[in-house]
Amino acid sequence: MALSCPPMAAFPTQTQTRSRFMHTSHIDIRAHFGLNALPFTREFPINKRFKHDPAEQALAALRHTVEHRMSGVLMAPAGSGKTVVLRALVDELPEARYRCTYVKVTSLGKRDFCRELSKVIGCRSAGQYNTLVRNIQEHVSASVTGDGIRPLFLIDEAHDMAPEVLAILRILTNFDMDSRLVLSVIVAGQPRLASTLKRPELAAVTGRMAHFATLRNFGRQELADYVRHRLTLAGARQPLFTDSAQDTLFELGGGNPRATDTLAFKALHIAAAKKASVVEANDLLEARAQVLP
Ligand SMILES: Nc1ncnc2c1ncn2[C@@H]1O[C@H](COP(=O)(O)OP(=O)(O)OP(=O)(O)O)[C@@H](O)[C@H]1O
Ligand SMILES: [Mg+2]
Repeated sequence: MALSCPPMAAFPTQTQTRSRFMHTSHIDIRAHFGLNALPFTREFPINKRFKHDPAEQALAALRHTVEHRMSGVLMAPAGSGKTVVLRALVDELPEARYRCTYVKVTSLGKRDFCRELSKVIGCRSAGQYNTLVRNIQEHVSASVTGDGIRPLFLIDEAHDMAPEVLAILRILTNFDMDSRLVLSVIVAGQPRLASTLKRPELAAVTGRMAHFATLRNFGRQELADYVRHRLTLAGARQPLFTDSAQDTLFELGGGNPRATDTLAFKALHIAAAKKASVVEANDLLEARAQVLP
């Protein structure tokens, strides 16, 4: 569908446009649309995620990587579902066999990153960098030989990590001169992570990554299926977006899951404020003008 509206990034900012629109945040869209939960939020049971090919393929490949005690990368644009895939991976791995550690504090220096890692895995977090690395290696190694549980580190938002911090992964995954594959690491981040991983000083880390997975945005039909899925999950019994509203949602959000969530959530509020029973294309255009670029 051709739109007179420019795509997301070119729209006016919230402060530029807010005054032209009614405030809708106080409106209870659950009561208005007869839902039992808020749709399009990040809080949903991970086993009820929307299962679409690119994400499920990435998930299967990363799971295979981890099951073979190797490490991998998940690289995709902001809001495209990386963290959802990581959550699904943790959910799918048998709890009795894997100890998963999720780390997101990636804007730290080498020593602070190791301290945070030590805290999450429960080993001594005091001392200098070399001591911390040794402690982590010993702790991880002991947990493997002791109870047979395999450790998995999930490092999210790794595009914010300094190259020298990413380089720690080489040391952390180096056990007994590489003769034993002990620790798996999944590094997830936005596409600029690629240029960091291509740096010569990170060749040893990048070379350890057995699989590089990516995600892509929804296509038009996938987006329609996603919208239906999220609304059904929230208890909707009939479609709440007209076909043309769905087309507009696709044009404005480009099929990016987070942009879709943000626009759809806002449009539901706008439609509810008008006491409408469904969201129309115009509600999406209004929504677009009210959300941040
Ligand atoms: N498979 C899915 N099922 C249901 N919702 C999804 C799915 N994938 C993405 N989403 C929705 O899109 C939102 C953004 O996804 P997510 O946070 O995983 O993106 P991201 O790639 O990690 O973003 P960032 O780069 O900003 O960290 C989620 O909060 C969720 O609501
Ligand atoms: Mg994320």
